[in-house]
Amino acid sequence: MSLTKRMFKFNVLALCFSVAQATVLQGARDVSACPGYNLDNVVQAAGSDTITGDLIIAGESCNAYGDDIKRLSLSVTYEDENRIHLKIWDPSETRYEVPESVLPRPTSKDVPADSAKITLNYTDNPFSFQVVRRSTNEILFDTTRHPLIFEPQYWRVKTDLPAHANIYGLGEHTDPFRLPTHNHTRTLWSRDAFGIPPGTNLYGNHPIYFEHRKGGTHGVFLLNSNGMDIKLEESCGRTTLEYNVIGGIIDLYFLAGSETSPAEVARQYSEVVGKPAEIPYWSLGFHQCRYGYRDFVKLAHVIGNYSAVGIPLETMWTDIDYMHERKIFTADSEYFPVSRLREIVDYLHAHDQRYILMVDPAVGYQTKEGYPTYDRGVRDDIFLKNPNGSYHLGVVWPGVTVYPDWFHPNITEYWNNEFKLFFNPETGIDIDGAWIDMNEPASFCSYPCLDPYAKARQRNFPPPRLTPPPKPDTPIFTPDNTFTAQYGNNLERRSILDPPYEPFNAAGPLSERTAHVNVVHQNGLVEYDTHNLYGTMMSSATRQAMLARRPDERPFIITRSTFAGAGHHVGKWLGDNLSTWAQYRFSIAGMLNMASIFQVPMVGSDVCGFGGDTTVQLCARWATLGAFNPFFRNHNDEPYADQEFYLWPLTTEAAKHGIDIRYRLLDYIYTAFHNGSLDGSPVLSPLWFRYPSDENTWGIDLQFLYGDSILVSPVTEEGSTSVDIYLPDDIFYDFETLAPVRGRGEKVTLTDISFVDIPVHIVGGSVIPSRESSAMTTTAVRAQDFNFIVAPDLAGNAEGSLYVDDGISLIQDATSEIFMSYTPGKLAVTGSFDYTSGVKLASVTVLGLLQAPANVVVNRDGSLLGVLSVNFNVESGSAVITVNQDLDRELTVTFDV
Ligand code: NOJ
Repeated sequence: MSLTKRMFKFNVLALCFSVAQATVLQGARDVSACPGYNLDNVVQAAGSDTITGDLIIAGESCNAYGDDIKRLSLSVTYEDENRIHLKIWDPSETRYEVPESVLPRPTSKDVPADSAKITLNYTDNPFSFQVVRRSTNEILFDTTRHPLIFEPQYWRVKTDLPAHANIYGLGEHTDPFRLPTHNHTRTLWSRDAFGIPPGTNLYGNHPIYFEHRKGGTHGVFLLNSNGMDIKLEESCGRTTLEYNVIGGIIDLYFLAGSETSPAEVARQYSEVVGKPAEIPYWSLGFHQCRYGYRDFVKLAHVIGNYSAVGIPLETMWTDIDYMHERKIFTADSEYFPVSRLREIVDYLHAHDQRYILMVDPAVGYQTKEGYPTYDRGVRDDIFLKNPNGSYHLGVVWPGVTVYPDWFHPNITEYWNNEFKLFFNPETGIDIDGAWIDMNEPASFCSYPCLDPYAKARQRNFPPPRLTPPPKPDTPIFTPDNTFTAQYGNNLERRSILDPPYEPFNAAGPLSERTAHVNVVHQNGLVEYDTHNLYGTMMSSATRQAMLARRPDERPFIITRSTFAGAGHHVGKWLGDNLSTWAQYRFSIAGMLNMASIFQVPMVGSDVCGFGGDTTVQLCARWATLGAFNPFFRNHNDEPYADQEFYLWPLTTEAAKHGIDIRYRLLDYIYTAFHNGSLDGSPVLSPLWFRYPSDENTWGIDLQFLYGDSILVSPVTEEGSTSVDIYLPDDIFYDFETLAPVRGRGEKVTLTDISFVDIPVHIVGGSVIPSRESSAMTTTAVRAQDFNFIVAPDLAGNAEGSLYVDDGISLIQDATSEIFMSYTPGKLAVTGSFDYTSGVKLASVTVLGLLQAPANVVVNRDGSLLGVLSVNFNVESGSAVITVNQDLDRELTVTFDV
């Protein structure tokens, strides 16, 4: 080695040393002297490869953020072929763990270690471990260089990863889908995060990451709900990932994933946190919402306007505006009298439309009796309390509030009862779904919230209504009132408190603008530990309450705050975004996180943006992107200009176009949802899930797969009518023209994309079950006949599936599971057809043909039937074959190619 080379090497080492030092010293305490632990008393369970052992502090305590715990317990279990569970805890005390009532633990099959795809190798003195993929010997997780630290209010586990590791997840966040690995911290601490700024903690907490490498994709899940910072750093040719957690235990699940199929790790994660809840078919329709619909007349206008311009509106929503003084489970008797709301609900139901209302967790605090929801809560003793036993007060929309304690044994009965009384189909408002919000839980009162009354006065809560109430008998849904919107810019305007290690909560101290962390639950747990669970616990309670009302139906609930496993109960919207192009772009990564990593597939952003005035162009583009949000809702904040799609010709056209495509594809996406509910298969995915070995796809988060066979590539820049999209080395078909587009593993510029259009491609190799036409409601869509679109791969083959049921029942009497498989010149439709849909397979559209199909024959029940017509389009190479057969049993369509 020459001198120069040596010098260079020396310098690199010196640099590595100083970077490492700097990283250590960056936090409040120096953890470089922490000794780690030695592993002793290792015991292997009889007939099992589960090991347990003691971890004994390996030297002088470092006491970085408290006294090092001298003795810990360790267990490592091979739970199944794909999953290793490692737990480290303090045996000397009952330390907080995420309660099983919130997240039931997966069953362990306790398999032999040598049957597992990953293995955990450890070193005793000091203790460290590596998780290794057996098939490739790749080290997936490696704590060798980083001693474990475990103290009462701080623990640290740190792993080395390959340089510039491809890490995804660790949200909720608005950072790039592939996380930055240099100087990047992901803080998990639920926060009411208006504007959803990048780089900050937001509403939900999902301590799971997927790491993708050339050799495969795996996952690491930390089952812990305490506040934490997960730091990513690049140094010395490695990425490091470091958990800094302020409580609970080390409870890590290593998921082997797969060498070739990234979606496998999503499925394995669903084994741990539960499968997403099955959704009602109607929930895939278009939803309209707004904070600031001032009275029942306005609601009726919006509903009427949508139908007048012919934009399908499936579900009308009402925000807190309907409440009396913004108190939950009340309706304002002048602005939203129950009788008029009932009229609206009846109208909606008569037109196969739906209605959803907002419910916050916080209950208006009262000093005297008279608000039954509060009075019953006091009677049942279900509100959160301060350590001295007094009610914990915050400030939310009604002013000073108390918060339900979701751990209280009486809470289910209380919440069910409130739902039953207020959302009663006979006497109250018969909602079809529930929207739950502010469940971080949020408070507008800064920590320490010593005078909530002053804060409530300062915010003027609850505010007076700014418009006079409508006359109680104002006619609604009359011809006069069905269309009042003027095209144009309708800019109507109306107005354990101080932990030694504090995660980087963007709000400030952990108790800032939320229930204080020293609040005690009835079961003795404190908010310090359970804060991040509040939204998910409200979600499961609300699911129970909705089920109690309509026991036979799949509940539909959309929440703001989520924890790992929330998708098992509810869907989620991405919170208070802004009407900006940047946030329109972030929304894609936000959805990918939820749908492809966190197992919360029913997700969408506030289309057209929540905060700020939208623009016509942004709203038009977002209308078409929204059509590919699993949950598609236009929602807007109170002070800003109206943004219903019907307000401008451009947004009207964009929405109609987007919804037209969406509704024709409803069964395709519903099938994806069904599959996801069975095995966790993602409903949306990044391109790299499908093209894992194509490195160019790993960082793409402005294009995504809707289901696994529709590639969506929206225009992402203001004023632009073009977009550079990446097409992997594969065959694609333009959804509009049906023409094949050969991807070459490079960028392609698409031009002339009007503001009402969105580039969509079918990935070769798929058969897409689409409906012949769209309709004004999802009920009407279900009556349309099917058109199967056959998009062959480069070898000429394709396959797809279609799941059909009644779309709503919790338990289905009969379902159809239909498989379509295509080889050149032959489409076979097989499977079970037990659900009677009453519709036909009207046509089959075959793409990528060089010539018109000849001798087309349908074979059904052994009889050969001629087809009604074959329509060949030379330009696109597509043929529409009119089949016109009931879709109630197997058939094949064959032709000469
Ligand atoms: C905050 C929610 O994020 C937003 O969507 C809602 O409109 C307001 N709360 C008012 O309820």
